[in-house]
Amino acid sequence: MNLLIYKSVDVLNIALADYVIKIANQAIEEKGSFNFVLTGGNSPKELYRLLSTEYKDKTDWNKVYFFFGDERNVSADSNDYNGGMAKKNLFDKLDTAADHIFYVDTALTPKDAAVAYKKSLDKHFNGNNITFDLILLGMGDDGHTASIFPHTSLVKDKTVNVSSVFVEKLDAYRISFTAPLINEAENIAFLVFGEGKASALKHVTTDQEKDANTFPAQLIDPTIGNLTWFVDEEAAALL
Ligand code: 6PG
Repeated sequence: MNLLIYKSVDVLNIALADYVIKIANQAIEEKGSFNFVLTGGNSPKELYRLLSTEYKDKTDWNKVYFFFGDERNVSADSNDYNGGMAKKNLFDKLDTAADHIFYVDTALTPKDAAVAYKKSLDKHFNGNNITFDLILLGMGDDGHTASIFPHTSLVKDKTVNVSSVFVEKLDAYRISFTAPLINEAENIAFLVFGEGKASALKHVTTDQEKDANTFPAQLIDPTIGNLTWFVDEEAAALL
């Protein structure tokens, strides 16, 4: 596990954008495509803006396939839909082709949306292992990642899958990759900044005795791939 601490969010975003482009160009050179899983939430908005503007000419975006590690159970036109946030900050500016974006179909029930999404992943990977080139993750101040929230069924889900989960604290359903699916990736990068995440970051990255039920991001431990934390000094204040 690699933990990189940056003085400011701006410097962090540039470093992470450079990293994304590096992985993208490696994947495109090796196999002609880059399978990239996006995170939702607020943290990645500036990164996505950077990638779609200053970094627009740094890789062949026509060879990039975009996926979502989790999605809220809201309609696609809701401001809370991660797909819409990525469309606004990334896809529209890159003019990404529709068949290169794998949105979660939240017009279905959460359970059916999860089943349908997993089927689309199996098809994209031709029934082989679902091994993404890069999965970008955020982390909540409660130590959740994707939609693997503390004390939910998803923490215990040991299947390589996309599942639906009811999150009591949100009083809402979510659709999410399971930790074993995330851990299949070649590369995993966390994007975590702000003092509000300092406590969770300390527990997730330094607790000797793991307690994934309380800090689900502790479940992220790639089987063969690389894990890198991109954090700012505020989030790293307790390390
Ligand atoms: C989501 C994300 C979620 C997010 C964390 C951090 O759908 O919200 O996938 O896991 O990364 O909640 O959110 P912020 O970046 O907004 O702090």
